[in-house]
Amino acid sequence: MTVASRVRHFVSVADLGPSDLARLLDEASSLKAGRGRHARPLAGRTLAQIFEKPSLRTRLSFEVGMVELGGHCVYLSPQEVGLGRRESVADVARVVSRMVDAVVLRTNAHETIEEFARWSSIPVINGLSDLTHPCQGLADILTIRERKGPDLRRVTVAYVGDGNNVLHSLMLGTALVGAHLRAATPEGYEPQERYVELARRAASASGGTVTLLRDPVAAVKDADVVYTDVWTSMGQEQEYERRRRAFHGYQVNADLLRGAKPDAIVMHDLPAHRGEEITDDVMDGPQSAVFDQAENRLHAQKAVLRWLLGEG
Ligand code: CP
Ligand code: NVA
Repeated sequence: MTVASRVRHFVSVADLGPSDLARLLDEASSLKAGRGRHARPLAGRTLAQIFEKPSLRTRLSFEVGMVELGGHCVYLSPQEVGLGRRESVADVARVVSRMVDAVVLRTNAHETIEEFARWSSIPVINGLSDLTHPCQGLADILTIRERKGPDLRRVTVAYVGDGNNVLHSLMLGTALVGAHLRAATPEGYEPQERYVELARRAASASGGTVTLLRDPVAAVKDADVVYTDVWTSMGQEQEYERRRRAFHGYQVNADLLRGAKPDAIVMHDLPAHRGEEITDDVMDGPQSAVFDQAENRLHAQKAVLRWLLGEG
């Protein structure tokens, strides 16, 4: 028998309603403002991080976040656990649940996180799967809110590139806050229909919109935010050449950016493949918000930890 029904997880931005998201964002902003001075409510609590793929930001932000909240963290690398290979996902979930207070999973397959959550009696946080990256989505909305103000109902976010995990979470997040998302993807690289539907449902309640396009120039026209991500995600390395060809014309460069509003910000979840989806001059230019966005992973993650560990 699975145990998950009583436990709160953060597996997708779709797990949040508009008021949950607003509360998390407010909490993240207040933790950011009070960094170094705020309370340490997670003293004695332990977070495990089980990763099947590499990470800089996700691992570091959870580790530092736990320490700053008074708790600590155990990291288990791709070589160690062997989720579903060395041991079944259900068994790992039940063992981990007996020893720590929450777990972050970064997996190849989204189903692994869902299966883990079914068996876990502690909160499960999605630290990236092939389908979604909700912690990134949260930090993205936090960054947009910082730069464009708390009311995002007049804000247009243009996403140019692959219809991937990062776009799925961004789409759900912008829909919840009532912003207008325009995504330009090449044929065959559109976001999954299921996430488009979820986002459109949330947008219809918030007054936001989700528009799918082919043309990056049309997507970026008069946008407030221009967002891109890698063309080849972790685990897709064998598709590298095919993707490079398919994404020709989808680079965020100075020419494309000129079509956005003059005060538009540029976002990228990182790591960037500079010279592919984004040029150095744009990434390092005055409109770039990418390093604020990276820092905001820490503040957003701390808010998630407080929420799930019952201290938020
Ligand atoms: N953006 C992000 O999740 O970065 P990492 O893969 O380094 O964690
Ligand atoms: N789409 C990228 C995001 C990395 C944070 C990937 O899955 O590799």
